[in-house]
Amino acid sequence: MSIRPLIAGNWKMNGLKGESSEVIRELLAKVSTVANPGCDILICPPALVVNELAALCEGTSISIGGQDCHPNVSGAHTGDISAEMLKDAGASYCIVGHSERRTDHGESNETVKAKAEAAIRAGLIAIVCVGETLEEREGGKTLNVISEQVKNSLPEGATAENTVIAYEPVWAIGTGKTPTPQDVAEVHAHMRAELSALMTDANGVRLLYGGSVKGSNAPELMGLENVDGGLVGGASLTAEDFWPIIETGI
Ligand code: PGA
Repeated sequence: MSIRPLIAGNWKMNGLKGESSEVIRELLAKVSTVANPGCDILICPPALVVNELAALCEGTSISIGGQDCHPNVSGAHTGDISAEMLKDAGASYCIVGHSERRTDHGESNETVKAKAEAAIRAGLIAIVCVGETLEEREGGKTLNVISEQVKNSLPEGATAENTVIAYEPVWAIGTGKTPTPQDVAEVHAHMRAELSALMTDANGVRLLYGGSVKGSNAPELMGLENVDGGLVGGASLTAEDFWPIIETGI
């Protein structure tokens, strides 16, 4: 089965209205020069600008997504936003279970699963993040940790259309370090096998790699077997840095 890659930018807690719109405008100008992009392109900005950026991207090849959502539709959850609100604002994807949320907000696999189910319920595509810590890697536990996270974070009713899995080794995020291509390929093959036991269309699920992806390493990482795109943090913050990564999928 041929998989359409997804190149996604995770802006984390970066960008005010003006500069965010500017980056999107620059990306749209570049994308408009490509007749039929061969990949899906996504930006997940801070929730406050989802509405505005989604309006800018309407009818274009760039989609907008959230970085997190609450499992519930609505209710007494001060400071939270629901998947339905993201959808209402124009989002079409939502990242869940990013390691920064697992660490900073103590999110368990169970919570991540509930959030992914909320995203799907709202009509969004869930990007479920998994990844081992340095200690786990050095202790030879990587594949076990990934199995555990994939199995327990995977939403009920996951399909190749509504769910994306992003492998992001915690020690590679924002550090400039990346696993070897062999290590990435090994984990991705393992995730594919793990998913095959859990869903019927596992061969069509997009498996992204994330963690210090940049223009210089993207061609090799994105070209690996079972790597169907990337989740990019720092290098997605400017059009100049992000475009060469997008080009690996285009
Ligand atoms: P990075 O972040 O590209 O800055 O390492 C990736 C991520 O956290 O999604």
